[in-house]
Amino acid sequence: MSFVVGLSYNLKRDCPRGEGDPEDVAAEYEEKATVSRIARALRRDGHKVVMIPYGPGLLSRVRRTHLDIVFNIAEGWSGRNREAHVPAILETCGIPYTGSDALTLSLALDKALAKTVVKASGIPTPRFMLVHDEAQVSKSKLAFPVFVKPAYEGSSKGIRDTCKVETYDDLKKQVSWILSTYREPVLVEEFLPGREFTVGILGNNEDLTVFPIMEVRPKSEVPAEAFVYSYETKSKNLDRFLCPAPIPQDLTRRIRNIAVRAFRALGCRDMARVDIRLDSQGKPHFLEINPLPGLSSVSLFPIAALAAGIGFDDLINRILALAAKRYGLSPEACAARNVGTAAGSRAVTARGK
Ligand SMILES: Nc1ncnc2c1ncn2[C@@H]1O[C@H](COP(=O)(O)OP(=O)(O)OP(=O)(O)O)[C@@H](O)[C@H]1O
Ligand SMILES: [Mg+2]
Repeated sequence: MSFVVGLSYNLKRDCPRGEGDPEDVAAEYEEKATVSRIARALRRDGHKVVMIPYGPGLLSRVRRTHLDIVFNIAEGWSGRNREAHVPAILETCGIPYTGSDALTLSLALDKALAKTVVKASGIPTPRFMLVHDEAQVSKSKLAFPVFVKPAYEGSSKGIRDTCKVETYDDLKKQVSWILSTYREPVLVEEFLPGREFTVGILGNNEDLTVFPIMEVRPKSEVPAEAFVYSYETKSKNLDRFLCPAPIPQDLTRRIRNIAVRAFRALGCRDMARVDIRLDSQGKPHFLEINPLPGLSSVSLFPIAALAAGIGFDDLINRILALAAKRYGLSPEACAARNVGTAAGSRAVTARGK
């Protein structure tokens, strides 16, 4: 045994549901199979795994269990800071964890704020406005078509084929649907008509492994401008992936450059997946970043990792090793200390960065 690893997560089946919730309300959460697969991968590497479902009991659970480190994939149930809840609690308790910290997770989830930081770093991203009520729409100076999406969602929540709009009337309709359905501000941004890519990154600071660029395409042969990687596309299985993307070297270099600069600008740690799309001139732009990329068997991050020669178990244990290294944790030291620790008691561990 090396580390005692807590595994924090939100299951789809536990997602609180209310009257009028959209059909994609639980889209960002995990199937039990994904959590079990991650736990298996950690155990195969010799770690002891303690399950930590997200919820009100989480704080007392982490306080009464000795954990060397937490493998965190918990997304939280609600609010703009939901992905930051577990990291903030773990930091309060002095427990190391995988992935980005609370600040980066909240910043990345808020797509308008993320775009503002990215833009300030000189990375191209479409012009946008943040809409809090329908009346603001008439003030838009954006060029049609525009893309309309919830400001704080992921996993295609609120992303429908109707999100690409060409007229003020349709813009108002789409804005009003998102405001009333997701009860949060709406990001309206200029539509990028070109090909779509996503880039997985593993590592920290200067030491980054960038996976081969993945192109996301529709199964049918439609032009790039007609494609939206929407909830409909995903749920009807109408997407296909090309990894590595069949693109010239120069474009590969420019896309990688945007992904790496965005990862650093937003202070990501250990892993992230960056979505990028081309404009009408073929120039790549940042769309959004996922510091907690999906790790299911159909998620893009592990599929791209495989194209880099990194299998699923290896990927999980590399993420753990990256986090452990950041904190200066050694499996040997933890194993030796755990043997000498009374069962159930909290041991003091190195709490670096
Ligand atoms: N400005 C835009 N121009 C063109 N297409 C866009 C734009 N914004 C979003 N899209 C389309 O909508 C999809 C989903 O948008 P986005 O990546 O912001 O949502 P998400 O739900 O956070 O994604 P994920 O599933 O990666 O978490 C994109 O992959 C892209 O196909
Ligand atoms: Mg995306």
